[in-house]
Amino acid sequence: MQGAQVPLKGVREMKFVVEGSKALSGSIGVQGSKNSVLPILAATLLINGQSVIHNCPRLSDVDAAVKILNDFGCSVTREGDTLTVDASTVNNCHVSDYLAHRMRSSILFLGPAVARLGSAQFSFPGGCEIGLRPIDLHISSLKLLGAKIEEFCGMLSCKVDKGFKGNRIHLSFPSVGATENILLAAATADGTTVVSNAAREPEIIDLAAFLNSAGARIYGAGESTVVIVGTKKLHDVEHTVIPDRIVTATYLFSAAVTGGEIEITNTVPAHLDAVFPVLEETGCTVKRNKNRIYLKAPKRLSRVKTVRTLPYPGFPTDLQSPVTALLSVADGTSVVTENIFENRYKYISELLRLGANIRIEGRTAIIEGVEKLTGASVRATDLRGGYALIIGALAASGRTSISNIYHIDRGYESPEKVLSSLGANIKRIT
Ligand code: UD1
Repeated sequence: MQGAQVPLKGVREMKFVVEGSKALSGSIGVQGSKNSVLPILAATLLINGQSVIHNCPRLSDVDAAVKILNDFGCSVTREGDTLTVDASTVNNCHVSDYLAHRMRSSILFLGPAVARLGSAQFSFPGGCEIGLRPIDLHISSLKLLGAKIEEFCGMLSCKVDKGFKGNRIHLSFPSVGATENILLAAATADGTTVVSNAAREPEIIDLAAFLNSAGARIYGAGESTVVIVGTKKLHDVEHTVIPDRIVTATYLFSAAVTGGEIEITNTVPAHLDAVFPVLEETGCTVKRNKNRIYLKAPKRLSRVKTVRTLPYPGFPTDLQSPVTALLSVADGTSVVTENIFENRYKYISELLRLGANIRIEGRTAIIEGVEKLTGASVRATDLRGGYALIIGALAASGRTSISNIYHIDRGYESPEKVLSSLGANIKRIT
């Protein structure tokens, strides 16, 4: 789920200003995973008690999810990177239009809200800048679990008579969000649910681990077939969110594009098995052990023949724009094909302003690597496309100013501080 389309008041004017061409070096840890913490926060609705969640990044999307929980009547407190959710006070089944529009992931609250309360009303999640992003798989799956769903005037009204009932569900595409909504609805359902062609992302495994720690019985998360044996009641739980694999990779790309040398600790290299061969093809040296990655980049990167985005364990669609920015300065012609979202190339026109030479043919970007990018004023169009502009700016000579950075703040915790600690010259200005 991607898409806080409505920025928080007052943040629209913030910009990043980057003076590029400085090789990054040093060691950083990585934040908790946004795409894990959002469904886990939705899962807390199922627990008539307390959930203690560690390693929660400070992101505007996490703030929006907390506000949705507040709307439901939950109390949520933060201490450092730990969020404590008390959902024993849940009393409302309506999510405000503002929050539903602000965050597409609001749809993840539908399954657990109806499981807990018997009914819920939501606005359709906000429109999206990276494609149509329908929710038909969420709706048809919840219907197979017994939900009655009506759609009227941009609203979704969903209810179940006596709770969800287990069923067999085959997903026509391994949608991450739909798989998560099924896990959330089926965990406390009556009977057993079997999902085939389920998404296999690490964030699905993390959600299942959270639910199982609370007493759910979910088997096979991370595989194509997941079995959920419904449990009447879940109990208090404590859980640590996995490190963010997408953020890990984008910091590796940031160092690579500057000819840098960095180490990332506190991460899970195994989640990036599809990414390392691409970095190695560019000429980077990559070493990894259980929770640490070391990267040293050559003076000039080499082109990569082809990169194709695919569902996990394939190359992640969330890294399509960062890798395109990386390859825009590689020596030779690279080809990147986007197979997940149909409209994820909006950032390209902004990269062109920095001097990149990229053309789009259907779902494919053909990147003729240039020797140098040059600083310019650009505008973030979405979260990952926004970070791709930071990668371009780090490689560019001169000053780049990036506006609409509220998109980037949805998924990156203080990227200016992280990059400055590696020697980048980047400032957040109002
Ligand atoms: C999640 C991630 C997002 C990532 C994406 C794919 C979160 C919060 N977001 O988004 O960062 O880019 O997985 O890895 O975890 N689709 C349908 N009908 C549906 C649902 C999806 O047709 O009901 C289509 C989408 O339009 C898209 C494809 O399936 O073309 C993948 O979407 P999905 O896997 O559901 O992505 P999200 O869960 O939205």
